[in-house]
Amino acid sequence: MSASFPSLRLRRLRRTETLRDLVRETQISTDDLIHPLFIDEGIDEPHAIPTMPGLVRLPERQLAEQIRQLARDGLKAVMLFGISHHKDAIGSDTWKQDGLVARMVRTAKQAAPEMIVIPDLCFCEYTDHGHCGVVDDGEVNNDATLANLGKQAVVAAQAGAEMVAPSGMMDGQVQAIRVALDAAGFQHVAIMAYASKFTSALYGPFRVAADCGLKGNRAGYQLDPMNQRAALLEARLDEAEGADFLMVKPGLPYLDVLSKIREVSLLPVATYQVGGEYAMIKFAAQSGAINERQTVLETLGAFKRAGADVIVTYFAHDVARWLNTST
Ligand code: PBG
Ligand code: ZN
Repeated sequence: MSASFPSLRLRRLRRTETLRDLVRETQISTDDLIHPLFIDEGIDEPHAIPTMPGLVRLPERQLAEQIRQLARDGLKAVMLFGISHHKDAIGSDTWKQDGLVARMVRTAKQAAPEMIVIPDLCFCEYTDHGHCGVVDDGEVNNDATLANLGKQAVVAAQAGAEMVAPSGMMDGQVQAIRVALDAAGFQHVAIMAYASKFTSALYGPFRVAADCGLKGNRAGYQLDPMNQRAALLEARLDEAEGADFLMVKPGLPYLDVLSKIREVSLLPVATYQVGGEYAMIKFAAQSGAINERQTVLETLGAFKRAGADVIVTYFAHDVARWLNTST
């Protein structure tokens, strides 16, 4: 053994901050973050969301100001969730010209035209039973739901959305939306497909936030968390149907799926750090068990490392402020 052993000393490039910066493989940028917002059409003041400390349901008339604030802080994209006070059996408010989806998109685009405004396209926030579509005999009717999704997509596009994000996990939803958009002259509107969305306990905090709790569960349409191949099939199908983005959701427990999809597709890949992931970090940090900022940045780095181009996260505004103050 020579005196200089070991010949490759990895600590050489870890000695100083600037050396570490020089060789860092992945970066976190506000360019890649999407901030979800909850907009309530029936309240006058922000309502704290008990399951997601630090976040609120925003009154509809504060949406414009919130969008301008996010833009000032460097964010470039938002995803909009409505809290409806006009629920019915099929979620018809979603495709009304003056329904909540259309109004949110119009307001957000007017407030900051350069902001990418992405409505979540589903029905569970707008149905009185809380399922993601039309229910017949206790089951979600796939094809009846597709027809309604097409209508909702066109209304969102007319309101100014340049991208829509269908999250209901109906078979054929990407194609149905693509066909409807194209027929209405919206060939340029992109589809961010919730391609591989698992049925997850981590959606619990969101369902309180968005008022879309339900009897039963969504296991009849969302992916089984035990299945990786099925998740890849979903992504492949959505790509074939014309998706512009493929999303994996939730995030951290599904990095294997994210990394595999990154390998098999050339499309941009997104991941969604969901409400339960937010809550786990928030509550642990509040109790003093972990450092919030370090933990958040570490998780976002993990998404990037695994291959995510884009990250939907409730921490987006915090991250923007941290990045603004650290330079
Ligand atoms: C509705 C929808 C859900 C989420 C996004 N869109 C909930 C669900 O499918 O039950 C989850 C977001 C989160 O948990 O943060 N289809
Ligand atoms: Zn839904």
